Amino acid sequence: MRGYFAIGSERISKPMNLGALMRTAHAFGASFVFSIGAERNLKEAYASDTSKSAGQIPYYQWDSLDEMQLPKGCQLVGIELTDDAVELPVFRHPPQAAYILGPEKGNLSAAALERCAHVVKIPTRFCINVSLAGALVMYDRHLSMGGYGPKPIMPGGPEGARRKHVQGPDRKKAGR
Ligand SMILES: C[S@@+](CC[C@H](N)C(=O)[O-])C[C@H]1O[C@@H](n2cnc3c(N)ncnc32)[C@H](O)[C@@H]1O
Repeated sequence: MRGYFAIGSERISKPMNLGALMRTAHAFGASFVFSIGAERNLKEAYASDTSKSAGQIPYYQWDSLDEMQLPKGCQLVGIELTDDAVELPVFRHPPQAAYILGPEKGNLSAAALERCAHVVKIPTRFCINVSLAGALVMYDRHLSMGGYGPKPIMPGGPEGARRKHVQGPDRKKAGR
């Protein structure tokens, strides 16, 4: 897969959500996780994270947006239910991306949205849990950039994956 990605949240307040986000980010191969203006007590977040992702993946804790430092060329992508956000199923992910979610109570700040190169929304009827929203965006990135190609037309997996090819007998040797 080309590029890399990071994911984080602005003003996240529940350690369980940060732990879940870290774990999923680790599982999907994120390069780092970050928070902006989050609570400092990480102990509970570690406790909720059974894969101990916080020790496996770099975690940056910035107190404000101004402190946030992204690698050169890395595009900030807001994840928020705004009117003009691009719907996730038709969004092309930047190869180098840092995704930013809003807090449990509230939305991404105007200042954060302003810094985003893109804003995407998941086509749900209402707001879903913040770590779940992050997981869906990471899954969509993986699905669209993982080199899987188009899905088969018929239900089920691709033909090659279902049945292993078995070489038939040599036609010449068999005299056919
Ligand atoms: C639980 S929601 C925020 C709650 C909601 N704004 C409210 O106060 O009613 C937390 C964060 O999850 C993300 N989120 C949840 N559902 C989303 C969706 N359908 N599309 C994009 N982002 C979503 C956004 O980043 C949002 O700021």
